[in-house]
Amino acid sequence: METVVTESASIAAARINRGEVVAFPTETVYGLGADITNEKALQKIFTAKGRPPDNPLIVHIHSPEQILEVASEITEASEILIRHFFPGPLTLILRKKRSVSPLISAGLPTVGIRCPSHPVAAAFLRQCNHPIAAPSANISGRPSSTDWEAVYEDLKGKISCVLKGSQSTIGVESTIIDCSVDPPRMLRSGAVSLESLQQIVPGITAAGTVEDEQHPRSPGLKYPHYSPSARIKLCGEGYPDCKGEKNSAWIGLSTPPEGIKKMVVCRNIEEYAYKLFSFFRECDREKIAVIFCEMPPEREIGRAIRDRLLRAAEEHHG
Ligand code: TXA
Ligand code: MG
Repeated sequence: METVVTESASIAAARINRGEVVAFPTETVYGLGADITNEKALQKIFTAKGRPPDNPLIVHIHSPEQILEVASEITEASEILIRHFFPGPLTLILRKKRSVSPLISAGLPTVGIRCPSHPVAAAFLRQCNHPIAAPSANISGRPSSTDWEAVYEDLKGKISCVLKGSQSTIGVESTIIDCSVDPPRMLRSGAVSLESLQQIVPGITAAGTVEDEQHPRSPGLKYPHYSPSARIKLCGEGYPDCKGEKNSAWIGLSTPPEGIKKMVVCRNIEEYAYKLFSFFRECDREKIAVIFCEMPPEREIGRAIRDRLLRAAEEHHG
């Protein structure tokens, strides 16, 4: 299949409206979208990514009015969260309408909903006939794509179209809050921090950490994630000291030790999040063997970086 790369939201929307699969930019990471009412198109997402079928998809909307096209009810807590954080890097889990395809919900009684703030995403979603189901636009298990080149690298020949925008400004996926339970639970950390959420809905609890993996509430959390081909070694406070190795790279907030071939020293945690996945991919293109990653402080988006690093560093068997 020829994969068209375009900067035109209307060309991309026209393709999705006729049942094709299209990648599009958002402020978190690029998404790989299909029309929620088209089962065949939804199936193509799983095929293109090699995604396990029991991992549900997030539904993307251009305005909060569309929520009731997929959710059966809006809880009190979700209403407050919508008011504060939509559009933005936050996904809410709500009870789903019966009409929502089980391909999207993976058989769960709930559905994830997000309203991206990225202007190109918003323009694109407005021209789609229906809300758009979209996981991150990468091969399953690989780092999420934060620029269109990464999307193209993974999915060229497998999808109809890439809507080209600038690099995602946040760089890690949305925060996920399960509002189908009371009090709501954070299932995945992201740019909307636990601290800022708790200021608005004080009862919100944290879950979905790697340590909590015995009973993952977010089905996707049990799969390997974010892994470059290079080996990830964590360092920093509470982790082994890092010694430069042959063909090794470094990403972190402090200056690396001697002997590192390639490095990014970030000025703050926001820059760390922005650069993380694209650095992983660059290292793979340059056949780096080991990437040392300094654990950032566990606050704000640092929590999301730590979560992604822990998952990327996990050894997976089978
Ligand atoms: O920032 C983002 O959220 C990006 C952009 C494209 O919007 N999307 C994204 O999608 O990260 P994906 O598929 O890579 O991750 C979605 C996560 C998975 O871990 C999945 O299990 C979880 O959301 N999820 C989706 N629906 C759910 C539901 N009904 N209940 C619990 N978890 C759900
Ligand atoms: Mg993903």
